[in-house]
Amino acid sequence: MNPTDHFPRLSLGHFPTPIRRLHHLEQALGGGHLLLKRDDLAGFALAGNKTRPLEFLIADATSTGCDVVVGGGAPKSNFIAALAAAASVGGIACELLISGAALVDPPPTLRLAEASGARLTFTGGDREHLDEEIDARASALNRDGHHAYAVPRGGACAVGALGFASGASEIAGQGVPDNATIVLAVGSGSSVAGLNAGRGAIGANWQIIGVSVSRPLEEMRRHVTTLTRACTQLLEVAAPSDAVIVDASVPGMGTTTDAERMIVSLAYESEGLLFDPSYGAKALVEVQRLVRTGFERPIVLWHTGGLPSALSLLTTEKGA
Ligand SMILES: Cc1ncc(COP(=O)(O)O)c(C=O)c1O
Repeated sequence: MNPTDHFPRLSLGHFPTPIRRLHHLEQALGGGHLLLKRDDLAGFALAGNKTRPLEFLIADATSTGCDVVVGGGAPKSNFIAALAAAASVGGIACELLISGAALVDPPPTLRLAEASGARLTFTGGDREHLDEEIDARASALNRDGHHAYAVPRGGACAVGALGFASGASEIAGQGVPDNATIVLAVGSGSSVAGLNAGRGAIGANWQIIGVSVSRPLEEMRRHVTTLTRACTQLLEVAAPSDAVIVDASVPGMGTTTDAERMIVSLAYESEGLLFDPSYGAKALVEVQRLVRTGFERPIVLWHTGGLPSALSLLTTEKGA
């Protein structure tokens, strides 16, 4: 049973994404039972995990008669490039609000968004205020006769969370055992909230550990609980027990620790896998921590993508 089956959905990615055992990394770490869920292979642009919420968000926008989506993020946000690509494929215009000042040398994420035909506006402000600015821009467009669809940062809303609610039934169908622990990085909270809502809807007992990369821990916990409830209300199922959220927000998104560098190199050397510094590296460190505690139950690491910045971690000198 997939609890999201009756919602409009635009097919963008190749699902189910593969799941496989990481024998070589287990050996390198000296233990553990590790499985990798490969949303880095979702097959839509470089969108990784963000392909999932966008299948529901763009379908919701077009099926309700909207003619423009309004979203936003920091310049290096993977989501903005993904949103622009999904809007383009879905045949709807896209406006993006980018935090900070205009850049002389835009990162690949912004260049990709432009290549999809999105209209970019720099707000000059910080990213924390973007959701309000997105709503205000959507209202202004509506006053001008458009039908605008506002998408919060990262697709963190009930409809966006449907993407990972669907992912929950996907991994149940791939045989992930009930005693598994699932580890994934948390930014906007859309993925972990949807996964937990979907887990509840299908009655799976997995433990879910979200590795928070940005907001303060208590704020993130509250935010994820609210988002999970919004998604379960949409699905018309009971709210599940909360996911475990652990803090990986220190020393900050732009800074890579020695531990992150080492485990990312180990994953590349032992399995040929690429992980990005902002999200994947932090989830991997949590997996390593679990293995070191002698954790014996299967651990599913959900690879969320982030390939635009994955190269930088392996190819730049420490401290660069
Ligand atoms: C590569 C990658 N992994 C994980 C995440 C976190 O996902 P979420 O925003 O759904 O919490 C993001 C968010 O942009 C991401 O780009």
